[in-house]
Formats: sequence, structure tokens, C-alpha cells
Amino acid sequence: MRDFPLFPDQASTFATQVDQLYFFLVALSLLFAGVLPFVILYLIVRYHRSQKVDRSNPVDSNLKLELTWTLIPLALVMLVFFWGAFLYVQIRTVPDRTLDVYVIGKQWMWHVQHPNGKRENNELHVPVGQPVKLIMTSQDVIHSFYVPAFRVKQDVLPGRYTVMWFEASKPGEYHLFCAEYCGTEHSLMIGRVVALPLADYERWLATPGPVVLPDGTIDTGQPLVVSTPGDPMAAAGEGLFTSLGCAGCHAMAGGGVGPSLQGLYGATEKLADGATVVADENYLRESILNPNAKIVAGYAAVMPSYQGQISEDQLNQLIAYIKSLADTGN
Ligand code: CUA
Repeated sequence: MRDFPLFPDQASTFATQVDQLYFFLVALSLLFAGVLPFVILYLIVRYHRSQKVDRSNPVDSNLKLELTWTLIPLALVMLVFFWGAFLYVQIRTVPDRTLDVYVIGKQWMWHVQHPNGKRENNELHVPVGQPVKLIMTSQDVIHSFYVPAFRVKQDVLPGRYTVMWFEASKPGEYHLFCAEYCGTEHSLMIGRVVALPLADYERWLATPGPVVLPDGTIDTGQPLVVSTPGDPMAAAGEGLFTSLGCAGCHAMAGGGVGPSLQGLYGATEKLADGATVVADENYLRESILNPNAKIVAGYAAVMPSYQGQISEDQLNQLIAYIKSLADTGN
């Protein structure tokens, strides 16, 4: 059952609000495009030269009229502006506590990994009633993650993270599209979002299932690393952290050649040039791939770049690990 005929389901917390604004804009456009031309036509005919209208006393100006046709459109335009801006800020402001899911786009499919290590392709399972944050990047060209039923769409770019959040409001299966032309099979880069009641979602999350990894190998669906505490995705990141030798410089107790990463995620970092930066996913990404772009105050520019040495998948795991340090550090 659709909420409106011809419209996708309204299945997220802001779907209804987006539609209300949309319908208001359509009504306003219809008013101006559908009514005003007929008024103009009527006036053209009514006051045509051939009509016997008294023209002996022409009106030069009328302040009341001019104020009316200036202030009413101004009020309408300001209403649309503030309404749209309010909604936009609401949609773009990620809540503090979210369920983080990592998405990698590539020609021509979607790879999804959940913090517990569970992977899926061209499908995204989410719980109903929980804010979900997607941390997205692309392995190749620009894609766009579009879920019409949630009224959300966000470009997915190579070389950086884009973030999108939503809260599913009712269980169901919804279309997932790539909304940015990305090559010959762009139109096949489709999938589905499955919104489940929380208990079903938790059961789904705990059930392993085989999935093809971004590099083409098969993941048997077992948790990535079972011997280390914490989320398997963060644990895989910790394994990388160890094998890449990161701890040699980033001692968790501090006092290393590089800054400690404990409690780093979400913190405001002071840089050598006096600027500050919030340590979000994009900052962590840049610090791994291009470490000398932003030097933390008090440290030297000695970290080597890991560009080309780790995959997007591994980068996500490293970042999940660094984020887990923030959680336990607080
Ligand atoms: Cu990916 Cu279009």
C-alpha cells in the first residue's frame, strides 16, 4: 500500500516532511503557472483597444497594489527558503548515536560491511526505529546512493568519504538505486534496502552468510577476527594496525613519534599551522593516505603515506578500529 499513488513509500522519519514541502512547491507552481496566465489573458481581452473602456483617467501608481504584489511573493519565497533550509539541516545533521555501516561503491555494485564484520552485496539490512549512518566511498568513479522510500540520496566519491543518515520508520523492502551515471551497467547497479524490526535485524546480523569481497574473493561469512575483543570490523583494523607497524609510532599511552589515537575520533585536533580540525572519518582517511596534509601541533611530518598500499576495505577497517578507541577512551 502506497501512502500516495505513484509515490514511493514513505519509509523514513523525514519522508513525510520532504513530501509535504514537495507538494507545497507543486501547489505554488501550479498557482502561478496555471492561474496567472488566464488572468493575463482575461485582462488582454477585457482592455483591448476595441473594447469601449473609459481611459480618460489613467492610474500612474498605486502604493497599496504595489506593496501587495511585492510582499505576498516575498513572504512565499521566504517561507519556501526557511522551510527547505530547516529540513535540509535536519537531514544533513547526523545524530550523535548512530549505527555505522560502511558502503563501498564500484562499477557496478554496492559492497556493504557492518561493524560486526557481516558483509552483503547490493543489499542493506537496517533496523526500524534506529538512526543509521552510512560511511560511503567509491573504488572507481562517482556513484550515488539513492533510496527513494527514505527520500535520501548522496553522491559516493572516490578518494573521500561521504556520509548520509536516515531512520527507517516501517519494515519493508525498498529500492536502492545508483543515481549517478557511472558506466555501461549503471542501470543494473541496483539493489534493495531491507528494514527489519530490531529483534529480526539482530538475528539477521548474527547469522553468517557468504559474500563476494570487493577484491573478488569469497567471504565465508564468519566474523573477520574472532580472537580479539571488540567488534570484528574494528578487530580486523587492529590486526592491520599491528601488521602495518602503526603502533611503533602511535603508542596508545602517548609519548610516541606520532600522536596517540586513543579518544581521537570526534575530538578537535590542533594543527601545526594553528588551524583546528574535527577528527571525523574523512580526517582519519586523509591522515592515513596523505599524512602530511595536516600536521598535528607538536609533531613532525614523518609519517609515510599508505596510498595504494591498503584497499578501501582495509581503510574502512582501520577507521573502524580508531573509532573503537574513541568509544573505550571516554
Ligand atoms: Cu554506479 Cu551509476
